[in-house]
Amino acid sequence: MLRYGLAALSLIALGAGVILHQPATAGTESPKIQATAHLYDTYCAQCHGVQRNGKGVNTVGLSVQPRDHSDTVAMSSLPREQMIKAISDGGASVNKSALMPSWSAVLTKDQIEDMADYLIYVCKCDQKK
Ligand code: HEC
Repeated sequence: MLRYGLAALSLIALGAGVILHQPATAGTESPKIQATAHLYDTYCAQCHGVQRNGKGVNTVGLSVQPRDHSDTVAMSSLPREQMIKAISDGGASVNKSALMPSWSAVLTKDQIEDMADYLIYVCKCDQKK
């Protein structure tokens, strides 16, 4: 009886796993990239731009312009660890402008790690850790 119960439970778990791993939209990107793109649109695009080029709607009054995340050359010189630090603790924590906010109270550690991976995807950087 217990055995059947467990078998049934693992079938349910398997089923849920299959459903959860379906991409939210019919794109070619992985579900994680799509989910992180959505976070970026919510929190970052106002400054870094819907095109990820640093030209967001909220940049007019900024004395320091946001980083162009689509710039492969410039982004390639930014180590993943520094991206994570800048996103978590804000620009000032990496001796950049404090106009870059800190996100550790908004995004989880995992979401910030995913965001760094997403930025590496966006800039088409071939980063070595
Ligand atoms: C209020 C505007 C604003 C928002 C919102 C914002 N940023 Fe920024 N960000 C900036 C500015 C300005 C800079 C440039 C700082 C500099 O070069 O001194 C920057 C720089 C960066 C950098 C480069 C840091 C470095 O070391 O060069 C990364 C990575 C980054 N932002 C990621 C993000 C992510 C991810 C989000 C969303 C979770 C986000 N930013 C939201 C304004 C913003």
